[in-house]
Amino acid sequence: TNRTFTMLKPDAVGAGNTGAIIKRIEEAGFKIIALKKTQLSAALAGQFYAIHKERSFYNELCAYMSSGTIVPMILEKDNAVEDFRNLIGATDPKKAAPGTIRADFAKSIEANAIHGSDSDENAANEGNFFFSAFEQF
Ligand code: GTP
Ligand code: MG
Repeated sequence: TNRTFTMLKPDAVGAGNTGAIIKRIEEAGFKIIALKKTQLSAALAGQFYAIHKERSFYNELCAYMSSGTIVPMILEKDNAVEDFRNLIGATDPKKAAPGTIRADFAKSIEANAIHGSDSDENAANEGNFFFSAFEQF
């Protein structure tokens, strides 16, 4: 598809980087289809990250992702999933290419500023987690 899902994580929102990151996203050619600010409970973060539940950092990740405000968004662009992963850069900001969002805004491998869906299927599921059908026009 031509859509992906992203969310600005608590470190980015808390540091006041919401506007700067959204500007990067729009300048890269992504159109915002849906956007809100909210905060996850630990239980909801656990549901969102259920695909990672066997990983060593799962509990830490869920605690972190429920620690503050997040800004989930659905974005549209040709080749959205792959192009957006390239725009945000590697998971670990120390390994993220210069000029990527994580290179410029992430604090650590966990507090890494932004999420980007890794497949069309996950993008659809993650968007539906936060937004009802009538919010996705
Ligand atoms: P997302 O776009 O957020 O899904 O990141 P990703 O696809 O680059 O990474 P992955 O899906 O493998 O991991 C999900 C999230 O878990 C990462 O974005 C980090 O916030 C966190 N994470 C990944 N690896 C580690 C780790 O080794 N330690 C900790 N504490 N957190 C990690
Ligand atoms: Mg991922």
